[in-house]
Amino acid sequence: MAEKGEEFHHPSLRRSCLCRPINIPRTKPTNEVLNLIKDFCVTDKDLKEYMKLLMADLHKGLAKATHPKSIVKCYPTYIQDLPTGQEVGKFLALDLGGTNFRVLMIELQRNHFESISTTFVIPQEKMVGSGKDLFDHVAACLHIFIVEQKLESECMPLGFTYSFPLVQKALDRGLIERWTKGFKCEDILGDDVVKVLQEALIRRGIHKNVKIKAVLNDTAGTLMACAWKSPYCRVGLIVGTGTNACYVEKQQNAEMFDGQDHGGGIVLINCEWGAFGDDGSLNFIRRPEDDEIDKNSINPGRQLHEKMISGMYMGEIVRLLLLKCTKHGALFGGKASSELNQRDRFLTKYVSEIESDEPGKFDNCKAVLEELDLKNANESDYANVRYICEMVSRRAAYMCSAGLCTLIKKTGEKRVTVGIDGSVYRFHPHFHDLMMEKMSSLIKPGVVFDLMLAEDGSGRGAALTAASAL
Ligand code: BGC
Repeated sequence: MAEKGEEFHHPSLRRSCLCRPINIPRTKPTNEVLNLIKDFCVTDKDLKEYMKLLMADLHKGLAKATHPKSIVKCYPTYIQDLPTGQEVGKFLALDLGGTNFRVLMIELQRNHFESISTTFVIPQEKMVGSGKDLFDHVAACLHIFIVEQKLESECMPLGFTYSFPLVQKALDRGLIERWTKGFKCEDILGDDVVKVLQEALIRRGIHKNVKIKAVLNDTAGTLMACAWKSPYCRVGLIVGTGTNACYVEKQQNAEMFDGQDHGGGIVLINCEWGAFGDDGSLNFIRRPEDDEIDKNSINPGRQLHEKMISGMYMGEIVRLLLLKCTKHGALFGGKASSELNQRDRFLTKYVSEIESDEPGKFDNCKAVLEELDLKNANESDYANVRYICEMVSRRAAYMCSAGLCTLIKKTGEKRVTVGIDGSVYRFHPHFHDLMMEKMSSLIKPGVVFDLMLAEDGSGRGAALTAASAL
């Protein structure tokens, strides 16, 4: 249970907000590693160029004439009503967007909410099989939840957090545009995802228990969940398995939006910024390791921005850099282990663990290297490995910072809270501070911002959106 108005800021923010001196450890590598990795540094000049390009792409995505060919799609979500705090009721929510799938029941009351959830695994073969198989699995999990919670005799409104690119046609209608993050159920591309889900519920015989009220992206859910607490929330960001952001736009600027204005004149825009750079615009900061990641992915040439930032790829980028340094004799005495040679073997969670070591101490780093069968690593290897992790996570945090400053500028607001969720932001020990530091230097003078960890945006945001549809 959580109370409205309760502090929900990131743990590091709780200590203090903008005025706390930021102290991010910077490990000293050997000169050889420094030289081999120096390309991974993005300068403020790079980030300013990035911001210019992203702003141009946002305009292209929003305008009717340029939208069809745009890379950053800026899909209108049909969410026009930010939460008022008056939303009440009991809702079901589905959260589909990563290797885990969640079913939730949320009860909204005026100043607090309660939620229960169950997490189910999505077997790999269902992520890349037929749409029918995937959604039959979704319906089967929902069925288990309904039975467990004794909801068989109820009909509850449902919000569906579907975290893939979707060409939304209404709050409860959206066409599947493409798959990302390791999913590939190509046979249902172009289909209305709500209809696909509804048909699976019918096959399972549970269609009378739910009424699908809304489909939304996880970034929109995050924004809604955060706006329930903060009146200044105008941007939602996810840095997890994938990355994406959404923001509040004026309907007059969102030319692809064809809904009826509810009176507020605004609409949430799902930027789908993971695709930024797919036309080559980010080549000036992409590196050979980024090419390698892309080449070996399930969706080559697509989601290039996401592949530089998000949790699905971060560990692998580090692994490629470790191998490069080892090949040059600058790490592990020039000898990699067979574990380290294995693709995707360096998990993204290792990056967070290694950077969680106290400066100058390497306990986690040592444990990770032992897991990778690199038992003969020495102190200088530890420092070098940590430095490589820092370079990769810092690049990701800086790119997110530049992206957020661009969106904040686009809102035209002078004070903006950003709601954020996702495993990278949540678990990396310095990601938040890196973003605070970089955004403070990139933000337009006179604009005040705040970064807020949105607790369970996918669940609560779905309930709030379904509530707005009622
Ligand atoms: C998807 C987005 C989603 C993001 C974060 C991306 O791969 O395209 O729709 O918001 O991941 O989950």
